[in-house]
Amino acid sequence: MKLIKLDAIDSTNDFLKALSGSQELENFTVVTAENQTKGKGQMGAVWNSEKYKNLIMSVFVKGFITNADEAYLLNIATALSVIEALKKNNIKNLSIKWPNDIMSANSKIAGILIENSFKSDGSVFTIIGIGLNVNQTDFTDLPKASSMAVVANAIFDKEEILNLIVQELKTNLELIKLSATTLWDHYMSLLFKLGLPMPFKTQDEKTFMGIIKGVSAAGKLIVLLEDDHLVEYGLKEIQML
Ligand code: BTN
Repeated sequence: MKLIKLDAIDSTNDFLKALSGSQELENFTVVTAENQTKGKGQMGAVWNSEKYKNLIMSVFVKGFITNADEAYLLNIATALSVIEALKKNNIKNLSIKWPNDIMSANSKIAGILIENSFKSDGSVFTIIGIGLNVNQTDFTDLPKASSMAVVANAIFDKEEILNLIVQELKTNLELIKLSATTLWDHYMSLLFKLGLPMPFKTQDEKTFMGIIKGVSAAGKLIVLLEDDHLVEYGLKEIQML
């Protein structure tokens, strides 16, 4: 693993994407920052993280998927890697809120933003962005968020967790080719609120209730609506509230 440590940057994902465009990067080149001035979340959201406290990391990988249909497996492999690293640090009540928010009980402790570039030669470059709340304890502005420190009442070593995540990523990304169903079953067993009614919001801000039935092979969330229709929603179509 090649590690590039930055103090402050707009976004580690953007930094690594630009770097991969200007030079040949080896697999598992990792960029971390203590602070992001323009941290990116899913669906155009901002990722806020208290300076110095948390893990802000982006990992460059290539060669694990060959087309857009497989892209969701990268999300699954990443979510499972973060979960495994957290488990090894004794964090309890872990689950994955579709598509890939990492939860401890009802609070989000990590977010994942994966950005793929499909090249004309058929290769796929991927930037795996992970924001993990490690030692932050003040969440006044983010009532639905939490951290390892809050959940476990302890202080953690960020670099140790980073190494664990990268180690787990290496194993789980290999599984995409070797046994995607193993990844899939593991992911489904950790799905947040499976079988339970949940509020959702569409892109145009409409809210509705539905029961989560599972996730399709393409990574779409299967929801049973109140009128008994089963509907599949893609990554950018809805958000779970
Ligand atoms: C989300 O849950 O909305 C995804 C958050 C992803 C945040 C991480 S922090 C490191 C990397 N760089 C970014 O700009 N975003 C991701």
